[in-house]
Amino acid sequence: MKRLIVGITGASGTVYAVDLLKKLHEIPTVEVHLVMSTWAKKNLELETTMTLKQLQALADYTYHINDQGATIASGSFLNDGMVIVPASMKTVAGIAYGFGDNLISRAADVTIKEQRKLVIVPRETPLSVIHLENLTKLAKLGAQIIPPIPAFYNHPQTIQDLVDHQTMKVLDAFHMPTKNDRRWEGD
Ligand SMILES: Cc1cc2nc3c(=O)[nH]c(=O)nc-3n(C[C@H](O)[C@H](O)[C@H](O)COP(=O)(O)O)c2cc1C
Repeated sequence: MKRLIVGITGASGTVYAVDLLKKLHEIPTVEVHLVMSTWAKKNLELETTMTLKQLQALADYTYHINDQGATIASGSFLNDGMVIVPASMKTVAGIAYGFGDNLISRAADVTIKEQRKLVIVPRETPLSVIHLENLTKLAKLGAQIIPPIPAFYNHPQTIQDLVDHQTMKVLDAFHMPTKNDRRWEGD
């Protein structure tokens, strides 16, 4: 059984989190621990047709963003890593500076200190030097930065095709299987 922490923040692109949670839900050997920021909940409402209840039902455990006493806030809670999708620049900044003022930035801080896998799906454009420096710092600390940048070599036809490819990249990072993967197979 693998244990994965999923953090969702208030950057645009909640659809990526929805898709990841749906795909993780189909993998019986993965236990999902979900935490959403206040703005993530708002963006779920603004950008998708899914309700908070429906989304939370895809996770095995859900935590409140201010629950600093949650298991995932402690390094003693064994797990296989954390993904933040989408990751706002505010959360990226907080993690880069060790400012664990909520459960997402605290769990990410713990993931770094315990040298577990941290995947960040940052979403902002254009990126300022502040954003780039913070992301660079996290990459140097071992975090894997997987921005939602589409590939076109697999001829996506729908938005779901683009989202599938992004989710595939995140699942690949955790060595987890994915359906609908349309990979480059040579020319
Ligand atoms: C509709 C909407 C879209 C947003 N998109 C982004 C974005 O793509 N990237 C970003 O860094 N912030 C974005 N924001 C701003 C963040 O939600 C805001 O900085 C918030 O404080 C982030 O807090 P959190 O990281 O705790 O969720 C957006 C806000 C709204 C309402």
